[in-house]
This record gives sequence, structure tokens and C-alpha cells, in this order.
Amino acid sequence: MKTLEGRIALVTGAGSGIGQAIAEAMAAAGAEVVVAEIREEAAAATVAGIRSAGGNARAVRLDVTSETDLAEALLSVPAVDILVCNAGIGHVGTVLTTTGADFDRMMSVNVRGVFNCMKTWVPGMVTRGRGSVVNLASTAGLGGLVDRFAYSVSKHAVVGVTRSAALDLAKTGVRVNCLCPGRVETPFVRSRIAEYPDPAAAAREMASTQAMGRMAQPSEVAAAAVFLASDAASFITGAALPVDGGWTAGMFPKA
Ligand SMILES: NC(=O)c1ccc[n+]([C@@H]2O[C@H](COP(=O)([O-])OP(=O)(O)OC[C@H]3O[C@@H](n4cnc5c(N)ncnc54)[C@H](O)[C@@H]3O)[C@@H](O)[C@H]2O)c1
Repeated sequence: MKTLEGRIALVTGAGSGIGQAIAEAMAAAGAEVVVAEIREEAAAATVAGIRSAGGNARAVRLDVTSETDLAEALLSVPAVDILVCNAGIGHVGTVLTTTGADFDRMMSVNVRGVFNCMKTWVPGMVTRGRGSVVNLASTAGLGGLVDRFAYSVSKHAVVGVTRSAALDLAKTGVRVNCLCPGRVETPFVRSRIAEYPDPAAAAREMASTQAMGRMAQPSEVAAAAVFLASDAASFITGAALPVDGGWTAGMFPKA
């Protein structure tokens, strides 16, 4: 029997990168996957890929900041066993250059979006007495990052949401954990690298921040998400798991 057989897994932002890889890996592990995305064409492509590999998936339109979308998505998907709050956006800027509007946008998508999804689907998990939430934080949620002020603040908050909710829900059968990836080779990161004057040097520099000397593949983050969502992680809740090739293992890791 596959590890997620019989489970319904909703993955936000599953039209690209890490979310797409998690949706694919959870489908391969036997889950019925709901691809919850703001970009409907991207969601359709993820669903088509999963189905062509023999998996079970469908798409639901969802902007994690929209109360209307969340209410409609709940009608369409009233019960989930696994909730992966992956949708997130980046922002480049220091504490001096980040505007109030930049800050609010980052908190709205990256933090309030996670809270919104948990408020929508966790009550049903509690009623049924089982469920697993996997949030996407970052190494930037475990320590500060130069020139990523609002992003880093938002990811520290995702770690806080995860730990506090895990305690609130500890006796309900619902576990809440988060992943803290280092740099992952997603379309988002590849397009960032392409903007540098010397993309090859930028890619080498980004790879070198990880002790292992390379970026992660999305599938390596997805494998950790499948584990945390499965019964193999039955005594793990409130964890912030680095998937960072050793980046945060050192006392003075390279930023
Ligand atoms: N790529 C990395 O190096 C890295 C490292 C650590 C953490 N993360 C985190 O992992 C998550 C995924 O990152 P990625 O690199 O795969 O990004 P990505 O940009 O490739 O994918 C993010 C997806 O989220 C969707 N999305 C954006 N806003 C949304 C909203 N309001 N509602 C619903 N969907 C929305 C986008 O359409 C996109 O498909 C993010 O939370 C990111 O912060 C990424």
C-alpha cells in the first residue's frame, strides 16, 4: 500500500516549482491531489502531468488572500487530510528600501495566506480527529537574509504559525509542521538568476551557500513533504525541518 493511499491532499501554489513537485510526489504516493492555484492554466498543466503519470488530481482556483475564493474552494473541497500551504512570493529589499505596501503584500500572501488556508480546512480535520498540515517556510525563516527583509520576516512568521498551531492542535490528531528549504532550483529562482549580469556566476554563488555546494531540486523538498504528511511522521508536530544541504548546520553559515 502506498503511504498516502486514501488521503486527500490540497496543495496551494501547485502550478509551479516546489508546489508542483509536492503535488506530483503526493499523487505518486497514492493521494488524491487538489491543485489549488491562482493561475488556472498552470494548475491545469500540473493536473494533466499527474494524470498522465497515472495519478489522481483536480484543480481548484484559489488566491490564498481572497475570502471569496477560500469560501468557494471549501464548497468544492469540503474535507482534506493533508493541507500543504506552499503558495508564496518573494521580495528583494532591505529594511530601508522596503515600503509599507511591500511589507503588507508579503505578509498578506506568505503569512495571512497560510493562516487563511488553515482557518478554512483545519476545523474539518479537528472534527474528524486526523490531519497533517505542511507549511513552506524557508531557511530565511530561521535566520535573517541580507536584502530580503520582508521575505525573511514573513518566513519567520510561518515558523511561528507552525509552532503555535502545533501546540494548539497537539491533542486533536492534527499535526502541523513546516519545511525550511535552502535555495531550490525552481522556475522562480532560475528567472532571478537570469537577471544577473553574470548568471553563471550568480548560480555558482547561490549553490555555494549550501554546505553541499548545490541547490536542491524541487523533488528533494517534495520527498520531505510526503514524509511529514504521512503516518511515518506520526510523532512529529511543530517541527521546522531544514531541507538545505547543510546551510543552517554551521554556527556561521554563509548568507
Ligand atoms: N525556490 C526556493 O529557493 C525556495 C526556498 C525556500 C522556500 N521557498 C518557498 O517555497 C514556496 C514555493 O516556492 P517556489 O520557488 O516553488 O515558487 P514559484 O514562484 O515557482 O511557485 C509559487 C506558486 O504559487 C502561486 N501563487 C502565488 N501567489 C498565490 C496566491 N496568492 N494564491 C495562490 N497561489 C499563489 C504562483 O502562481 C506559483 O505557481 C514559497 O512559499 C517559497 O517562499 C522557496
